[in-house]
Amino acid sequence: TTKVKVDDLLSKMTLEEKVGQMAQVTLDVITKGPNEYVSDEPVTLDPNLVRKALLEYKVGSILNTANNRARTPEKWHELISQLQEVAMKESRLKIPVIYGVDANHGTTYTAGATMFPQEIGLAATFNRAIVKRGSEICAYETRASSIPWNFSPVLDLGRDPRFPRMWETFGEDVYLASEMGKQVIDGYEGDDNNVKNTKKVAATVKHFFGYSVPNSGKDRTPVYISEMELRERHLPSFKAAIDAGAHSLMVNSGIINGVPVHANKYLLTTLLKEEIGFKGVVVTDWADIENLHNRDKVASSHKEAVKLAINAGVDMSMIPYNFRFCDYLVELVKEGAVPMSRIDDAVRRILTLKYELGLFDKPVTNYKDYTEFGSAAYEKVSYDAAAESITLLKNKNNILPVKKDVKVLVAGPNANSMRSLNGGWSYSWQGEKVEEFATKYNTILEALQKELGKDKVVFAQGVAYNEQGKYYEEKDVDIDAAVKAAAGVDYIVLALGENTYTEKPGDLHDLTLSLNQINLAKALAKTGKPTILVLNEGRPRLIRDIEQDMAAVVQLYLPGNFGGDALADILFGDVNPSGKLPYTYPMYANTLVTYDHKPSEEQVKMAGMYDYASDFAVQYPFGFGLSYTTFEYSNLRVSKTSINASEELTITVNVKNTGTVEGKEAVQLYISDKYASVTPDMKRLRGFEKINLKAGESRDVVFKITGRDIAFVATDLRWTVEAGEFEINIDKQKANFNVTETKAFNEVKTRL
Ligand code: IFM
Repeated sequence: TTKVKVDDLLSKMTLEEKVGQMAQVTLDVITKGPNEYVSDEPVTLDPNLVRKALLEYKVGSILNTANNRARTPEKWHELISQLQEVAMKESRLKIPVIYGVDANHGTTYTAGATMFPQEIGLAATFNRAIVKRGSEICAYETRASSIPWNFSPVLDLGRDPRFPRMWETFGEDVYLASEMGKQVIDGYEGDDNNVKNTKKVAATVKHFFGYSVPNSGKDRTPVYISEMELRERHLPSFKAAIDAGAHSLMVNSGIINGVPVHANKYLLTTLLKEEIGFKGVVVTDWADIENLHNRDKVASSHKEAVKLAINAGVDMSMIPYNFRFCDYLVELVKEGAVPMSRIDDAVRRILTLKYELGLFDKPVTNYKDYTEFGSAAYEKVSYDAAAESITLLKNKNNILPVKKDVKVLVAGPNANSMRSLNGGWSYSWQGEKVEEFATKYNTILEALQKELGKDKVVFAQGVAYNEQGKYYEEKDVDIDAAVKAAAGVDYIVLALGENTYTEKPGDLHDLTLSLNQINLAKALAKTGKPTILVLNEGRPRLIRDIEQDMAAVVQLYLPGNFGGDALADILFGDVNPSGKLPYTYPMYANTLVTYDHKPSEEQVKMAGMYDYASDFAVQYPFGFGLSYTTFEYSNLRVSKTSINASEELTITVNVKNTGTVEGKEAVQLYISDKYASVTPDMKRLRGFEKINLKAGESRDVVFKITGRDIAFVATDLRWTVEAGEFEINIDKQKANFNVTETKAFNEVKTRL
């Protein structure tokens, strides 16, 4: 068995060999010449540096991207084969290297791979099956490239639009993120988590945990949060993925309640490994052990940082640039500052992963076996996901769909950009290489030209991104030209939003859409031509000042290579939109509220005093999205009006398509706890199902819940359901039921 093999290998290893397995370096450390950020030349491995890393330092893992031109499955195969040759032929114990990349929305670093909508768009589909299918394809194409390890999915919550990685999440709701996360794990690893199957990859759930809610909104800045909130809101998506068998986990780069997570033994060992029972590999984020010293100042030296992180429970260090981690860790073990048992635990986890991936027998795959790579069938899944994600937020006088015999002006900085359709982690870290690689796909402009004919489409951008500058810098502002171009058209399609970014470079000073873009929108709306605003953005940028002037508003998110086509099909009625917002679209920067807020957050009146502005004034609510048809909900019923804490309650509702066209609807079940010892959220999503109904067709949709599903984290940190009344909400239908007993579902031995 794997355990016997791992124990046997471990018993033969020297301390240096064990420490090497815990080290991961970036590809740049072992290549010749300039790296991909500064050169377009193909990268070549430097045999001396490869030997230094793999043989002298016995490094067990490499990450990151090869240069553009190396990025076909064949070129990846060549590159990784060279590494495995050295690791498996020249090293004493012949342990294969494990290679990992960020294939976050498809195999983003392999040319010709299928690129999907980013997670935020996938969440908007409310369609589990499509998320799973996309993840299966991503796994297939990643493994086709001989890469067995994927640093995905992100299971942090997108609860704060100021956070630059919101688009990498499944949105603000923990239930939605947990459900979608499970689909991704099953898609990447298979339902049985048998990653020896060379069509599968090992998943990495990241970034454990509470990463996405820094108080400042800026990446990798401190989070102050109660352990109740952490456990209730930020832990379940990780727990669900771990229960689904996820093989690895990446640590949050930030600080929670004063302590960097990479140095937090309570979070990484007591909670994660002991209480939750995570058996996989815990890998750091980029340079985050060194950061404990350099940036976060909890270690007075790099060596001290290594001690803190490894003792806290880190198994592998994404070093990624030097070998000092290895030297320090060997010294620390010899000095007795890091126990050998901790090293053995880490290495056992890493070797288990390598065995389970089958890397000892098959360190690389044969790209020729992967005939479906980049196939039309795969691309169709990506198109379908984009089409189901696009969310219609406003449709004044049913202006959409538009007839195909019209003339349109296409404007805005996002109108002719494959880069902005894809987002970050696309062909390159910040997505700046997309235009080079996505030439065969259609931008919004191209898709509209295809649909209407080139002579029916006028293009005047008005505002452009400065591709050489920071992602948010704009240039060529020629709003007048755009206004003039609107003269002879019937409609304006205005594509606004953001250019690509991720991590720290995506931090914002202002959540409002740029002034240039606002001005462009105002000027175009003034022409009197109906303006259809298309938002191609990674987070909801404020549009309050222009929304009322728009005839329609369409949220595109970051839909991937087929986003332009899917949008055109929606605008002209070939596809009926069915996406729903996976977050609350804010109206004001000081009113960033999630749908699952507390009652006091929507107070409009203070007792005996004058009215205040509503604290819950939002542009569009969570779960909202229009269709070209109408759905009527009726006959909401429960199987019982009263349950004990463990009994199952069946909730049924009838949904009818009362319009004239076929459509898909994401049926959403919300439950509210009326009174509890901890102020309850207004409501919580506790079920969803995407259904398809023909015009006139109706269907019962059935949900099942137990007391555990409506529990909350009480002040003693235990998941608890309290006796009392609950309200069910599905669309505008309501029903009540009672829970007859109070029950806690888990034990908690320690706390933060
Ligand atoms: O996996 C990523 C992580 O999400 C952010 N920092 C870098 C890692 C490796 O690329």
